[in-house]
Formats: sequence, C-alpha cells, structure tokens
Amino acid sequence: MSSSSLIDADRKHLIHPVINYRAHEARGATVLESGHGAYLRDIDGNELLDAFAGLWCVNVGYGQQSIVDAATRQMTKLPYATTYFHFSSEPAIELAEKLVSLAPASLRRVYFTLGGSDAIDSAVRFITHYFNATGRPSKKQMIALERGYHGSSSVGSGLTALPAFHRHFDLPLPHQHHLPSPYAYRQANGDDPQALIAASVAALEAKVAALGADNVAAFFCEPIQGSGGVIVPPAGWLKAMRDACRRLGILFVADEVITGFGRTGPLFACEAEGVEPDLMTVAKGLTSGYAPMGAVLISDEIYQGIAGDARDTAVVGHGQTYSAHPVSAAIALEVLRLYHEGGLLANGQAQAPRFAAGLDGLLEHPLVGDSRHRGLLGALELVADKDSRARFDASLKLPERIAAAAYRNRLIFRAFGDNILGFAPALCYTEADFDELFARLERTLDEVLDEAEVRAALRSASRAAA
Ligand SMILES: Cc1ncc(COP(=O)(O)O)c(C=O)c1O
Repeated sequence: MSSSSLIDADRKHLIHPVINYRAHEARGATVLESGHGAYLRDIDGNELLDAFAGLWCVNVGYGQQSIVDAATRQMTKLPYATTYFHFSSEPAIELAEKLVSLAPASLRRVYFTLGGSDAIDSAVRFITHYFNATGRPSKKQMIALERGYHGSSSVGSGLTALPAFHRHFDLPLPHQHHLPSPYAYRQANGDDPQALIAASVAALEAKVAALGADNVAAFFCEPIQGSGGVIVPPAGWLKAMRDACRRLGILFVADEVITGFGRTGPLFACEAEGVEPDLMTVAKGLTSGYAPMGAVLISDEIYQGIAGDARDTAVVGHGQTYSAHPVSAAIALEVLRLYHEGGLLANGQAQAPRFAAGLDGLLEHPLVGDSRHRGLLGALELVADKDSRARFDASLKLPERIAAAAYRNRLIFRAFGDNILGFAPALCYTEADFDELFARLERTLDEVLDEAEVRAALRSASRAAA
C-alpha cells in the first residue's frame, strides 16, 4: 500500500487510543515502518530518534535479534497454551518463578495479563475477592492520586485521575477517591521534601478517617506518576505512603507499569526504598513491548485469603484466554536476560547522570520552568513566566507546536496537554544518542520560541506578573 492510501485507510477505519477523533481525521496518521536501537523509521523514510521508548515500554530498544529468536523458537514449538483447566507451559512457569525471585520479597504469586490496564483490573478484582472471602465485605473504598494513571479498563480508569478518562464515561465510581499528588513544582512547600511527604501522609490519613478504615480496601499509586506529567516525589515518599497504609490497615498497591524494569534505575522503583507492596502491577518493560503482557504480583496473605480453606471447592472466576501466553512469556524471559546479563540495566544506570544533566541544562531555556527526573524517566515543564510559574494558555496549542517541531527535527517524545514534555529513552541509549537527543531537543525549543505567537505569549505573561 502506498503511504497516502495507508493514511487514508487509517483515517477511515482505525480507532486510535486517547485522541480527539475529529482532530485525527483532519491530521491523519504518522505511519511507522521499522526500528533499530534507539531509532525509528517512518513510511517516508525519515529516521527518528525515539526518546520515549515507544510508549515508555521498549526499554531494550528496537531490533534485538535474540528476542526475535526466542519468540520464533516458542512459536515454532508451541504458539499457544492455555493456563485454564490446570494446563501450563514451560516459559510461563519459568517467568512466574523468575519474577517472584526478582520482585520485592512480599510478592509471592503472579497472575499474567495482556497489559497494564487488565493488570490493574485484576488487582481490583483480587482485592475485592480477598476482603469478601476473609469476612471484611465492607472494605470497598479505593484511593488513588490526582494526576494518576492506572489504565483504561472500565473500573481502572476511575482510579486514573486524568479528566479525559472520566468525561462522558460516568467516572470516577462512587467508591473511588483521589488525593493531591506530591507535585513539588506546583504545591505549597514543594521545595521542602519532608513537608511534601507529610502532606501526602496526612491527606491519606484524613481520607481514611473520613471514609472509616473498615470501609477502605486499598491505596494505589505509581512510584513516579508517568502520564500525569512525570511527577517525581521526594525520596522517602513511597516508603512513607507504604508505612501509612500498613498503620491504617489498608492494602498498598504499587503500579510499576512504567517505573518497572529499569526505568528509574533499579529493576523496580520499590527496590530503591526497600518498599514491599501488598500488590504490584507491571507491564510495558516486562516484554519491552515486543509482545503484549502484563502481570499483577500479590502477597501470600492475599493469595491464601482468596484460595480459602481446603473445604472451599468453588472456582475463582478470573481469567483470560491469553493469560500467561507462552510466546509473550518466552519474550519476557529473554528481555529479563538482556536487562541483567545483557548489561542494559547497568547501562541505564550509567547513563542516568547524562540524561539528568541534559534536562537540567535546558532550565536556562526561556520556555523551561522545571526539570525533573529519576533514572531514565524525566520531564521538562514549560511555563509562560518562570517567576509566577504561569502556564501557557491552552489556545496557543503549544504541545502541538512542540510535537510538530520535534518531528521536523526527527525527534520523538511526549508533549502532554499541559505543556509538560515527557522523556523515557531506551536503556540501550549511548552517550552519542543522548548528545543527539539534547541537540535536537534544544533546536526544537528554539524553533518554537521563534514563533511570533509564542514570543507574544511569553511577553504578555511576564507583563501580567510584573
Ligand atoms: C502506571 C500505568 N498503569 C497502567 C497503565 C495501563 O497499561 P496498558 O496501556 O498496557 O493497558 C499504564 C499505561 O501507560 C500506566 O502508565
């Protein structure tokens, strides 16, 4: 198919995630064709530096032949095996054992899903089942964070706290609640890490007190909020929230769908603070996007509560045809080998200071108000006035301008709606890849700054602040 007929057919038939449908019809798709290392190629032959690892998932980079070989071997041998009816397969078993050995010590059992949304959905179902089965049916309320993202299932998207996921979807549900996120750049006392941590703990305590601890099931959070704008909490925040949940008698769910698999440095962000969650959701970097797969890991206490005693013969009605898919599992095993024996985890850790320096260096730029990062997860927040931290007016459509200029400079990253630029380079990035990223990014910001409407917006914001 030619480039134009592909774009035409896409426009007519393919529904894209999280997009304005009319805007997509008008714009048309950008069709990607191939990838190698940190680079993608579009259908017109443009080579693009991917600074977002696809959708913060291709942590090992594109074109890893050993993953293709592992998938081919498994597809040839056994392309599908159900885990229903007591069946299993070698890669699924090996992967479950391996994940438990690598995850925080509290997590002993794994249920495999197809991605992150159904991992969250499975977590919600397991939590509900657990409290009902263990005689605490009043524990139904669930708490998450403002700006949080927990996927797009019909229940999980109510835990998500991004307006687009609620509008016209009748969400959040009455038992879903949100607390302010630890957003240092935009919160009172944001420059005092201890005050920020104390504010989050106090907000959780107050919410649980208001709902009644006997009615609250769980608190969900991302160790670093990704889709909400890469909100990096102070060191110690995750541990403080975990400890608060234990004190309050509610379950602590770490959503490591983005932060897992080396994205923030260690294999899991929980590791950095010695946090042992009751449940943990993962996806993305588990297979590095080479095939769909997610998982929810649960503690033995929750597993035993759901399993019940030997006299309970009822089945636990939770399952999916593709749970523990053997090809995805074989891919995940090879991806895990690449993180460890392949040196990618170590490379990501070694390159993190270069990434941080590149982002922080752009604080000098007239458009950049904040730089934040941990490991190879980072963001720049663009502001109309640095002193007042005033945002650009939405009518300026700055994210669209930035994304278009970046594409002209052959660079891909995430330009969020509220003028936050998100970055998640693959763990295979070299020093030279980072040099290229920051050269292209600076050129992009300079070009957008040169646009007359953007200059005018900067001028009027600084006049208003004066
Ligand atoms: C923290 C978090 N949880 C859940 C999800 C949902 O995962 P998926 O898109 O694989 O369904 C995402 C996706 O970006 C995520 O970032």
